[in-house]
Amino acid sequence: MEIIVLPDADAAGRHAAGIIARTIAARPRPVVGVATGSSPLATYRELAALVARGLDVSRTTAFALDEYVGLGPEHPQSYHAVVDREVTRRLGLDPGRVHVPDGSARDLEAACAAYEQAITAAGGVDIQLLGVGANGHIGFNEPGSSLGSATRVKTLAPGTRRDNARFFGGDPEAVPVHCLTQGIGTILRARRLVLVATGAAKAQAVATLAEGPLGAYCPATALQLHPEATVVVDEEAAAQLA
Ligand code: F6R
Repeated sequence: MEIIVLPDADAAGRHAAGIIARTIAARPRPVVGVATGSSPLATYRELAALVARGLDVSRTTAFALDEYVGLGPEHPQSYHAVVDREVTRRLGLDPGRVHVPDGSARDLEAACAAYEQAITAAGGVDIQLLGVGANGHIGFNEPGSSLGSATRVKTLAPGTRRDNARFFGGDPEAVPVHCLTQGIGTILRARRLVLVATGAAKAQAVATLAEGPLGAYCPATALQLHPEATVVVDEEAAAQLA
C-alpha cells in the first residue's frame, strides 16, 4: 500500500485526479469506479479541470459503489442523483455509460447480481476511487462485512446514518436504513484502488486501515490485500499514522 500525505484536501484531490486521469488516458475503454460523499468532491473538481484541458472521457464507463434502498433517482440525495450531479455532468460523461445500483428494484437481490454482471461485462473496473467511513467502512460495507463479499443489500450502521444526516436536513432518521453496496470482494477486483481521506475525523480509520491487523472489524483494512492500492490523505487524516 502506498500512502501519500499532502497538506490539505485540495492537494489530495489533485493527486487522486492525476492518478485517475492517467488511467483514463491509458485505456481504450476506461472503467472507473466512483464514490459519493464529501471525500471525492475535490477529486471530481480537479478531474473536471483536466477534462476542460483536453482529457478525453468520451469512452469512459463509470460504476458507483452504492445506493440507498428506497430512494428513487428523482430523490436529490439518492446516489443516482448525486452521481449525476457530481460526476456525470461535471465531467461530461455519457449518462448511458454511468451505472448505479438500483435501490428501488422490486427484486433487490436480482439487481445486485445484475450489477456484478454489468461490471464483469464492462471488463472489470480499471480504477476505483474510495472514501472511508469514520468506522472503517468502504462502499457501505460496515464493520463485520465479509472481506470476500459481492454486491448485496446491507444495513447502515447507526453511526453512518448520523454521519450522513447532514445530507438529509440533519435528521439521522431520514437517512435510509438499507443500501445496496458493492462488496469488499467486488472492490478488491478493481485493478487499482485510490482511497481519499481528509480531516481529523478520519485519522483513526486511516491508521487502522494502514497499520491495523487485517479483518472485517475494519473493512478498509482489505486494502492491505490489494497489490495496487494508494491512500491519499491530508495531514489531519494522517495524524495517527505511526
Ligand atoms: C459512498 C461511500 C462511502 C463514503 C464514506 C465516507 O459512496 O462509498 O464509503 O466514501 O462514507 O464518506 P464522506 O466522504 O462523506 O466522509
